[in-house]
Amino acid sequence: MDVFEAIKSRRTTNGYFLDKPLSDEHIKILLQSASYAPSHFNSQPWRFVLIRDKARREHLGKIAGRSMREVMAKGNFWKRYLKYFRFSKEETDKSGDGIHIDNMPAVLKPFIKYLFSEKGGEMMNKLRVPYLLAIDSKKLVSRSPLILGVLLTKDEYKKDDLSGMYSLLALGMAIENIWLAATALGIGVQFISLPMEAGGAYWQECIDMVQPPENYELIALFRFGYIDPNAKRPTIDWSSTQRKPVSEFCYEETFGNKWIPKE
Ligand SMILES: Cc1cc2nc3c(=O)[nH]c(=O)nc-3n(C[C@H](O)[C@H](O)[C@H](O)COP(=O)(O)O)c2cc1C
Repeated sequence: MDVFEAIKSRRTTNGYFLDKPLSDEHIKILLQSASYAPSHFNSQPWRFVLIRDKARREHLGKIAGRSMREVMAKGNFWKRYLKYFRFSKEETDKSGDGIHIDNMPAVLKPFIKYLFSEKGGEMMNKLRVPYLLAIDSKKLVSRSPLILGVLLTKDEYKKDDLSGMYSLLALGMAIENIWLAATALGIGVQFISLPMEAGGAYWQECIDMVQPPENYELIALFRFGYIDPNAKRPTIDWSSTQRKPVSEFCYEETFGNKWIPKE
């Protein structure tokens, strides 16, 4: 696959993957792709842990489900990120960013905008939205053939130090390399952030599963699997294919002076 084609077709996979383990050959390609990412002084500060064992994936699925339910029921997650929620194609076209909640049970449709609003919390819980999201989240994680734990060495990842920022940048580049290689191989990827968003005991349980030594920090978890073109969408789902035009985020010489590329 041509690089630019891979960049443009890379997507987050929200739904289920094929019920088929990833081949070792493909996993190796993904991780070799990570290793070719740039890093400060070629430090390669990243480490990865493959979680493929079924019982362990199911355990992570339970953590994902429980954390989703708690975070959604509390309301702080979606209130915090409300500015990125869109409810129509017109809204997404206008802003060019955010996520469009475009799939939900028919009974929720008339309320959706209200549900995801400052005042929607009580109604959200009454209509069991956190429960619906949690059921899907648990199944999506536990049925993914591969969960990838992504870590950084604390020798570099120091929060108040430039090397902390450098190592996060490098890790982002390594993850993107993995994601692009996955795209070329027909493998889907999704960030699993709810245990981290829930924090506390939920995130600690994930750390306990990965068992990083003292000088490594678990930064994120991702799920991987072969893309199923016929996969059913999650009960409540979103899409985010829209992008801002270059002229809206790139400036010439000084910030604010829009760069408008020639057609
Ligand atoms: C730091 C970070 C956190 C993210 N968290 C989540 C997440 O919790 N769940 C999810 O499905 N996608 C998550 N995403 C994916 C974004 O929602 C997604 O990249 C964005 O909507 C654009 O869609 P695309 O990846 O399909 O192009 C995350 C991405 C990044 C970079």
